[in-house]
Amino acid sequence: MLYQPKKILVTGGAGFIGANFVHFWLKNHPNSRIVVLDALTYAGNRANLVAVESQENFRFIHGDIRDFDLVLSLLQEEEIDTIVHFAAESHVDRSIHGPDEFIDTNVIGTHVLLKAAKKVWLDNLQTPRPHRFHHVSTDEVYGTLRPEEPPFSESNQYAPNSPYAASKASSDHLVRAYHETYGLQVTTSNCSNNYGPYQFPEKLIPLVISNILDGRPLPIYGDGLQIRDWLYVDDHNRGIDLVIHQGKIGETYNIGGNNEWTNIEIVKLICRLLDEKFATNEEMKKRFPYAPQVSGSMAESLITHVTDRLGHDRRYAIDAGKITKELGYCPQESFETGIRKTLDWYLDNEGWWRAVMDGSYRKWVELNYSQNT
Ligand code: NAD
Ligand code: DAU
Repeated sequence: MLYQPKKILVTGGAGFIGANFVHFWLKNHPNSRIVVLDALTYAGNRANLVAVESQENFRFIHGDIRDFDLVLSLLQEEEIDTIVHFAAESHVDRSIHGPDEFIDTNVIGTHVLLKAAKKVWLDNLQTPRPHRFHHVSTDEVYGTLRPEEPPFSESNQYAPNSPYAASKASSDHLVRAYHETYGLQVTTSNCSNNYGPYQFPEKLIPLVISNILDGRPLPIYGDGLQIRDWLYVDDHNRGIDLVIHQGKIGETYNIGGNNEWTNIEIVKLICRLLDEKFATNEEMKKRFPYAPQVSGSMAESLITHVTDRLGHDRRYAIDAGKITKELGYCPQESFETGIRKTLDWYLDNEGWWRAVMDGSYRKWVELNYSQNT
């Protein structure tokens, strides 16, 4: 039977995937109401939601998922029936340099949400209120794959390697436990690497785009032969939408694009696509005077191999067979179309990435990565 959410609390809705989710959802389900709860960390940006800010069925709350009283009052006051939980510290490198915030937000924060949801939807009620708690998680909880191993399926054992992955694994276990113990109606999705608009330029794809345009080195960790399975962000949100409406309570669904690339291949592809843009558009040279193409070089000249990430997972790949078979999931974007769309978005939204990069992010990179950038 289809579940029909009416009033949704989206945590982390000002971040990359959360903001894309809000746009995706309000476009496809204009009759539902969305309340975003976001702490606006370095990764959260209210500008990501400007297009929906004035809609009556949208509300933004600047607040922390660790604030139990705030979460409880929001669930009650807004009569929320569905939580879609994106809020997290999400960058692996940051978790290596400073794991505490990852434990606080990803583990404690998720637990606060679960406690508040249980109190409002289950406690002291003869009949539980119709509700759903959808937890957005990652393929990194499964650890790393050898080249010959099959992609991760939902039955793979958890083996998280970074503090980020371990914090997400812990949150997955808490979500499961609240279902098994208290009967909270939960679903979880574990997705592979996303790319697309509004991704903070500390992650590989937007970092490479912005660094080429400004003529900065392209840091490749180690040999660059690590493999990730890339999915366009709307296709991730399409999967979440299916799980919310049709997913079985208590189940986990892997979401991925069957699209494995080594990091160096991705970087070279972006280099080639930007070289083509510069070769066919004189205006680009005026806009980005520090790009290597302006002085007759190719973007690949910026590639710089740097010290590898500690505990770097060699390969991730998702087997999306379960969501495909059970819920009819099918990504709509090919990598060819998705990466071109993404490139165009960053070219059309130069103001956005410059604004998010000239704040705390730059200072953090200088402190932690002076050898790499
Ligand atoms: P992001 O870092 O871009 O955004 C995270 C958002 O959460 C930001 O808006 C931030 O302000 C907010 N936030 C952080 N701490 C908070 C707190 N304590 N209270 C309230 N809000 C807080 O992350 P993303 O890449 O959009 O990832 C979203 C979710 O998807 C995460 O749970 C992540 O683990 C998961 N995920 C990400 C990917 C990926 O490739 N990016 C893949 C699979 C799963
Ligand atoms: O797999 C899903 C995960 O994907 C999500 O859970 C995480 O939130 C998300 O950040 C992403 O994690 P990765 O560590 O895979 O993404 P990142 O963009 O940081 O790195 C992608 C690959 O590129 C990884 O192998 C490290 C490498 N890399 C990254 C950066 C930023 C480089 O070689 N150089 C770089 O400068």
